[in-house]
Amino acid sequence: MDESLIATINKLQDALAPLGGGSSSPVDLPQITVVGSQSSGKSSVLENIVGRDFLPRGTGIVTRRPLVLQLINRRATPRANNDLLDINTTKENGEASENNADEWGEFLHLPNKKFFNFEEIRNEIVRETDAKTGKNLGISPVPINLRIYSPHVLTLTLVDLPGLTKVPVGDQPKDIEKQIRDMIMKFISKPNAIVLSVNAANTDLANSDGLKLAREVDPEGARTIGVLTKVDLMDEGTDVIDILAGRVIPLRFGYVPVINRGQKDIESKKTIRDALKDERSYFENHPSYRAKAHYCGTPYLAKKLNGILLHHIKGTLPDIKMRIEHSLKKYQSELAMLGPEMAESPASIVLSMITSFSKDYNEILDGEAKELSTQEL
Ligand code: GDP
Ligand code: NA
Ligand code: MG
Repeated sequence: MDESLIATINKLQDALAPLGGGSSSPVDLPQITVVGSQSSGKSSVLENIVGRDFLPRGTGIVTRRPLVLQLINRRATPRANNDLLDINTTKENGEASENNADEWGEFLHLPNKKFFNFEEIRNEIVRETDAKTGKNLGISPVPINLRIYSPHVLTLTLVDLPGLTKVPVGDQPKDIEKQIRDMIMKFISKPNAIVLSVNAANTDLANSDGLKLAREVDPEGARTIGVLTKVDLMDEGTDVIDILAGRVIPLRFGYVPVINRGQKDIESKKTIRDALKDERSYFENHPSYRAKAHYCGTPYLAKKLNGILLHHIKGTLPDIKMRIEHSLKKYQSELAMLGPEMAESPASIVLSMITSFSKDYNEILDGEAKELSTQEL
């Protein structure tokens, strides 16, 4: 995600925190939820968006419980950050941010335990999945809740879900199709869900159950983005140009073709950084995509998501503005009653925070809104 957007939105959330009440975020950011068939690449896409390696991926039904992944922006402590980077750049896979003290995960089911090693986060997701579903491919609608604290993320929720499948295997219930469908609907029917409809490019889009579900909850296509994975696995001589041009199943926000790491890459622990480099060079050198390579790949998908996030925030502005004005009035009259000796009271501190913020929040959002309108979604 774009660091300046992260800074802007987090500034907004910080400034509005006094109005929030409890733990709920005053700026109600969308949940990004993946939908698609089993093994279409949903977990891989989410991982690439976050830019960290920590989700179980693989052939077959790997994601068997919903994973509600809350990203929480946390300011870096620059010194500690640098010290640790020095140590970690020598790691064999070259991922400089590995085991950085400024980034860690916490599971709801394991309070007070911080995971600094993202490999251990993955192992814990696998362990906790098996604990509730058994080892024989069972599924469960009970979510695993994971928080990731990092200076490089937007405070935002991502949801990884099991894929749509029709035929039960192992310990799966006979009505697995319905159970997974219900699980997915529960998440994507929320009005603030952005639906990432993930489809493998080497399968037929017309049969996509994920797209059908997305259309049911979002008929206007106002919060659905199509993602085409496995472009690298298409038969030679075929491409996704017709889909991108909206000639197959048009979506208002269109489709983004991406290339994630394949099973061999996962086994050889190919880094996200290398995968992004290869993805880029694939699109830039392929005769079908060369001319529009900047509309292809994970970075463009992230940019599109940013655009939709801003759009959503703009939609919530009138409500935010009303709440600010309401709080201003309330605190001003409270202070007036308390008199001048209460200048350092909590109410006064909150008041000055809100006053200073309400001055520049319009500027910030106007700036972002301009950027949004010049950016193709
Ligand atoms: P999910 O079941 O939808 O979450 O899919 P996963 O992310 O677990 O991926 C399923 C399998 O497909 C894994 O072996 C991935 O390595 C592989 N895969 C996912 N996306 C791509 C891609 O774009 N290209 C290639 N070659 N393999 C991919
Ligand atoms: Na899978
Ligand atoms: Mg998965």
